[in-house]
Amino acid sequence: MHYFHYIDDQLCCEDVPVLSVAQAVGTPFYLYSHRTLKRHFEVFDSAFKDIPHIICFSAKANSNGAILRIFINEGSGIDIVSGGELYRALEAGADPRKIVYSGVGKREEEIRYALKSDILMFNVESSQELEAINEYAGRMGVVARISLRVNPDVDPMTHPHISTGMKENKFGIDINKSLEEYRHAERLKHIEVIGVDCHIGSQITQIAPFIDALDRLKELIASLRNEGVGIRYLDLGGGLGITYDQETPPHPADYAKAIMDRARDIDCTFIFEPGRVIVGNAGILVSEVLYTKTNADKRFVIVDAGMNDLLRPSLYDSYHKIQPVELKGRKSILSDVVGPICESGDYLARGRAIPGLERGELMAVMSAGAYGFSMSSNYNSRPRVPEVLVKDGMFYVIRSRETLADLARGESIPDFLR
Ligand code: LLP
Repeated sequence: MHYFHYIDDQLCCEDVPVLSVAQAVGTPFYLYSHRTLKRHFEVFDSAFKDIPHIICFSAKANSNGAILRIFINEGSGIDIVSGGELYRALEAGADPRKIVYSGVGKREEEIRYALKSDILMFNVESSQELEAINEYAGRMGVVARISLRVNPDVDPMTHPHISTGMKENKFGIDINKSLEEYRHAERLKHIEVIGVDCHIGSQITQIAPFIDALDRLKELIASLRNEGVGIRYLDLGGGLGITYDQETPPHPADYAKAIMDRARDIDCTFIFEPGRVIVGNAGILVSEVLYTKTNADKRFVIVDAGMNDLLRPSLYDSYHKIQPVELKGRKSILSDVVGPICESGDYLARGRAIPGLERGELMAVMSAGAYGFSMSSNYNSRPRVPEVLVKDGMFYVIRSRETLADLARGESIPDFLR
């Protein structure tokens, strides 16, 4: 469900024509629908209204401060994986006691920053990390609240690059060794054990893997409580998938129901870390066709957005629908939609029957709100594109286009080169 649709053959975000935004900000740009973002958050959050829970929006999916603020204003916490994301979350007004911090490689200054900010908990991913947090907390004279991120070894049945909860992945602590690790954590002076956490992967389109993981966590919680370890939080991570093409992921209400059916006898506050399901279909990338050409019978549509702006197709061969900004009853033509980057892997769609777009026309790459801008880069010295938010018939630039000077910001020329 989203609010990108055609009105009189013009693609609109809510009721704002995409073309009018393009005329104001130029292309390429990311465009988000406030109504969609708010609705997705509300649907997800209210699906869990019958159990105590905190939604911690996963900042890595989209870390724009205005976007974070939309969810924070709705009561969201934030799931972070770096000091940078902590900074952004706090700047956006997040309640530190609703911030959870995962990640296998937390650095000392990041841990200290999180301790100083008094975040809700660290999701600890290794024995050494646990020791490090204990040590830094001790030196700061504070106690760190933690959960262990356990690796429940369930197959999320998703793309191998984004599956994280199987035993061969780098994430988390082997669930079979976690009891031992928890016993150790209980003995550490500057550690307070408060939760159990897992995150099994992303773009998951079935309920079963989540339930398998939950069942394994429930067993662990029971064993821990037997030993007198007070577990108050169960963090089930994120990972619920969306429809990019033909996928039929469970509706958040069905996902929630399946979880709540098994959750009533667990006396815990649940934490969820959704990213994609909230923002994925709430954003598009708008780009202009620069040229078309045919090489060896293959039609190329060369557009002004590239893999540096949206990496997902190149990195995961992932599908994003391509739609013309003006419909005009076009015939579909088998094409590759490619960007200006000097890499053969720079494409947004490959071997796809897409509406015949011509030089100077605009197209939208759909479902680009999650892991779109947040994974973009300056490769080929391309300034990063603006982000624009539509609300109530108006649009707001929530990140301006980088300038050429931004590209060299922070660089310095040593004297011997002058
Ligand atoms: N929590 C943790 C600990 C995570 O690592 C992630 C995503 C999430 C929550 C949010 O997952 P979501 O609800 O968005 O599935 N760049 C890839 C996705 C990588 C996901 C990494 N972790 C992509 O573009 O598909």
